[in-house]
Amino acid sequence: MTLILGIECSCDETAASVVKDGCEVLSNVVASQDELHIEYGGVVPEIASRAHLERILPVIVESIDIAKISLDEIDAIAVGNRPGLIGSLLVGVAAAKTLAWTLSKPLIAVDHVVAHLCAPALNGAEISYPALGIVVSGGHTSLLLLSDASTAVCLGKTIDDAAGEAFDKAASILGLGWPGGALIDAASKKGAPVHQLPRPKTKGSRPDFSFSGLKTALLYGVRGNPIRKDGKSIFPRAISELSEQEIFDWASSFQEAAVDTIINGIQHALGNNRVLCIVAGGGVLANTLLRKKLSAVAGSYNIPIHLPDIKYCVDNAAMIAGLGYHLF
Ligand code: KG4
Ligand code: ZN
Repeated sequence: MTLILGIECSCDETAASVVKDGCEVLSNVVASQDELHIEYGGVVPEIASRAHLERILPVIVESIDIAKISLDEIDAIAVGNRPGLIGSLLVGVAAAKTLAWTLSKPLIAVDHVVAHLCAPALNGAEISYPALGIVVSGGHTSLLLLSDASTAVCLGKTIDDAAGEAFDKAASILGLGWPGGALIDAASKKGAPVHQLPRPKTKGSRPDFSFSGLKTALLYGVRGNPIRKDGKSIFPRAISELSEQEIFDWASSFQEAAVDTIINGIQHALGNNRVLCIVAGGGVLANTLLRKKLSAVAGSYNIPIHLPDIKYCVDNAAMIAGLGYHLF
């Protein structure tokens, strides 16, 4: 039996988790900071790192208590050390290093993006390799070719906004609030994709993604093309002039276009790489339409797809411990 303590502080979730043998979650503690960033409509890095500092020790203690183990029983400590907000990463890495040093346990540095792809295994998924990995989150949109759980080659990624970031900006344009992904998802259920928005393709042969043009097309569609007035650029329409139903229809049209863009990238990668399955992770995997369309595309290639449980879509430390186990 191998017990890994995972620590995650790369963005705005302070998380710790104990995972047995890479797949059995004994505890999964996540302290979200949404309430601290909501008034700014996005994560403020300095506020995030200060909040991690206050929360990291209680979160680790709680994860050990819930797992009903003592710190001595842990075999290794895994920490997400890249990529992320530098001030936030610093807090998690300093906590993990200190624990590893005082307990004389191995310290394992984990790539946060690859760790998202360990989330499906936390629900018992058995993944065959090579696999196509797709990570869609607030900070990343990456297609990875996995030869095993810890070895990944990047096939393509976003060249501008991440998909989750685009959902958050779309929600802000539509006046729905923050974080926007779940709000767009809910609004879309009451609307229809009646507006044609672009499904941007990048130049070249790599399956890269681009979301910033889609976001601008939504903005201009909703508010009208900007006009010059008194030397300033202004929009002819205010969001308050749209009916609730119009907002729902724009949300649905945006969601269709964003999900199609992700699916197009996956189809491109599947056309060029022989894989035994698709494995997915990241906050945007909580999206109802994306889950549905991913399952359909896997079905059309006759390969299984492994989706994470909703609670393991957003940032958590169980996925860090999951990848830490394979590296250990
Ligand atoms: O994985 P995550 O916690 O962050 C990073 O590692 O970057 O993902 C957070 C992102 C946010 O952008 C949020 O709006 C998005 O996931 N999200 C969703 C949904 N739930 C969360 N996007 C679309 N549909 C959802 N239901
Ligand atoms: Zn993440």
